[in-house]
Amino acid sequence: MAVLITGIGELTTNDAELGKLRDAAVVVDGEKIAWVGAAADAPDSDERIDVEGRAVLPGWVDSHTHLVFAGDRTTEFEARMAGKAYSAGGIAVTVEATRAASDEQLAANLRRHVDEAAKQGTTCLETKTGYGLNVEDEVRSARIATDVADEVTFLGAHLVPPGADAESYVDLVCGDMLDAVAPLVRWADVFCETGAFDEAQSGRVLKAARERGLGLRVHGNQLGEGPGVRLAVELGAASVDHCTYLSEADVAALAASDTVATLLPACDLSTRQPLAPARRLLDAGATVALASNANPGSSYTTSMAFCVTTAVLQMRMTIEEAVWSATAGGARALRRDDVGVIRPGARADLQVLEAPSVTHLAYRPGVPLTAGVWRCGRALTSCFAAK
Ligand code: NIG
Repeated sequence: MAVLITGIGELTTNDAELGKLRDAAVVVDGEKIAWVGAAADAPDSDERIDVEGRAVLPGWVDSHTHLVFAGDRTTEFEARMAGKAYSAGGIAVTVEATRAASDEQLAANLRRHVDEAAKQGTTCLETKTGYGLNVEDEVRSARIATDVADEVTFLGAHLVPPGADAESYVDLVCGDMLDAVAPLVRWADVFCETGAFDEAQSGRVLKAARERGLGLRVHGNQLGEGPGVRLAVELGAASVDHCTYLSEADVAALAASDTVATLLPACDLSTRQPLAPARRLLDAGATVALASNANPGSSYTTSMAFCVTTAVLQMRMTIEEAVWSATAGGARALRRDDVGVIRPGARADLQVLEAPSVTHLAYRPGVPLTAGVWRCGRALTSCFAAK
């Protein structure tokens, strides 16, 4: 069934040829976009939805979350707001709660957060394992994630579990754990950071994952400058995430590579770190994505709009750069070309704003502007009646 969405005041397509359109319309047929153009030229359709001058853009592509978890870290957050520094060690609190939770509890918690994100315009979401940290719980986390998320990443190398020997744990991750989880996931990630895994350990994990056919991602340069970005670029990772502390060599390496720099502003704010140097990356020619990093420790938000607002108001990205990075940039970080874009043949993932332009995402900070969301051609939330 073809549905015409018309009366679009401003249409952000992220397609190089289509660009940004005014007085536009989109035809959705089944799960895909079938047509994009001027409202006056729209073809016949089975149904018609008039969005009355509002802005339409691709659904957010949130390329970095950690949502297979149980438990709560409010106390840690309160301590941080009172001046305590963030450290990787807090992950262990969530590991304990996650191991103790049932499959049903983990699945319900994941579903609740994914639904929360979808209501705010997120239509494609990656999530990670990483709160299991033994073979059984990492496999369980991956299974639960694949039922709900668009993209799943193995993050067995998130933290050396308390009491374990680091080298023996890396052996386990590179051996039995990867053997068991690799068939369930598309990506592998490593937290290459002081307090987590060093360069040699991170390199071992990434190479073992690559040998099993997984795409690579890296958590790097979150708490200080370090080897994360260099390693990610050298090994051809799709994305290096955080990038809060970057040397000039890191920026140059990213600019000369296909590795996306994924920035996580909600995490930087929530851990009281400086905001990542978006302008330096963009001006050097690097590809930048924005993601929520939704997790119970360092960034407990599913709001991509908040990330876009922060990127514009505080990281000096233009609104166009921030919207692109939270949609097409996320798709690039996941090496996908079917999402984050509105063009014929793409997945019909789009959002309508309660505003005439995307500028309002920054102009009206904190105001919930999501008026309608379609994912795979299906209305998830909408205040518009079809006629
Ligand atoms: O991306 N950096 C590592 N992992 C998460 C933190 C997870 C946690 O603290 O529970 C992050 O910020």
